[in-house]
Amino acid sequence: MKKMMITKIYSPKDIEEAASELKRGELIAFPTETVYGLGADATNEQAVKRVYLAKGRPSDNPLIVTVSSVEMMKKYVSKISKSAEQLILKYWPGPLTLIFKIKPGALSKVVTGGLSTAAFRMPANKVTRALIEAAGVPIVGPSANSSGKPSPTTAQHVYHDMEGKIAGIVDNGPTTVGVESTIVDMSAKTPAILRPGAVTAEELASFLGEEIATDRHKVSEKEVPKAPGMKYKHYAPDAQVLIVRKHDWQAALKWASKQKEKVGVMAPSEVFNTNFPENCDKFDLGESVATASQRLFAGLRYFDNINKVNWILAAGFPEKELGTAYMNRLKKSAGDQFFAPEMID
Ligand code: TXA
Ligand code: MG
Repeated sequence: MKKMMITKIYSPKDIEEAASELKRGELIAFPTETVYGLGADATNEQAVKRVYLAKGRPSDNPLIVTVSSVEMMKKYVSKISKSAEQLILKYWPGPLTLIFKIKPGALSKVVTGGLSTAAFRMPANKVTRALIEAAGVPIVGPSANSSGKPSPTTAQHVYHDMEGKIAGIVDNGPTTVGVESTIVDMSAKTPAILRPGAVTAEELASFLGEEIATDRHKVSEKEVPKAPGMKYKHYAPDAQVLIVRKHDWQAALKWASKQKEKVGVMAPSEVFNTNFPENCDKFDLGESVATASQRLFAGLRYFDNINKVNWILAAGFPEKELGTAYMNRLKKSAGDQFFAPEMID
């Protein structure tokens, strides 16, 4: 049997050491404002292959190239349009990933999945930008979870999924945004949002003042989504998740109180105030869609790994602004299932 690797926890002051692991072809998980990423030298094919192995990720699902400067990205990208330049100026570093056509052969097929484009991101987290600077190369950065599980928003989540599989984790506390970056495809004539995130469609449309396709992440089962990763089962805990609309909470809690199996409730604080059933366990999502987004993946993991339940009732939010990204992730984890008052007889 292969010996398990020791996974080291690095503090932000240890980044030189973490960077030398990256240069050696080892895998290091890193913090960002969205979720933790799994880093490897993007110019080292062997290292990148090990990222797919550690995550159990299908090899046709390309990786984001994480950079510490625009100069670093320009080595690989053939052309940056005026609107892309404006987006970079306004949102980088930040939770916005941009897809560009790349110079032929500039990046390994293992990174791009053989596409003629690649996704680039400059995270807001300063420790991670310093880590990339110190490594001197861009690093690939998929979310540092096992494929199919909720993305990690703390170093502990990463440790749970990756212990023994990677060299280390740079711990810089819980992430603030909580859902992965917005992905915008800038390689076609009309920019298209391939994954909603904290930089919202409303904001992008008004900032760019041009047409932007916003429905590309809403594909049916049979179609092939533009962001290959969007076709896989995602964010799925072992429990069955049901989304609860705001006006259905009373009915949902009544239903929960009659279950023989354990029910976990992920909801805004106000839901826990009145008549909360004794057989249910709580995970507080805070007051707003922003706090709910921050805590969503931690809640799904809580009821999966720490306090195991059979059912999770999770609060829905209106699908606008940040609510679009929140609901995109929650619907995937619930397989699109909503609580329906008819469930009570
Ligand atoms: O916030 C984030 O973006 C996090 C942090 C760690 O930076 N990273 C992240 O990476 O979410 P990942 O690999 O879990 O998701 C990247 C998505 C995948 O769905 C992938 O299919 C898509 O980006 N993607 C990558 N390259 C692409 C390309 N050239 N064209 C279309 N989609 C692409
Ligand atoms: Mg991911």
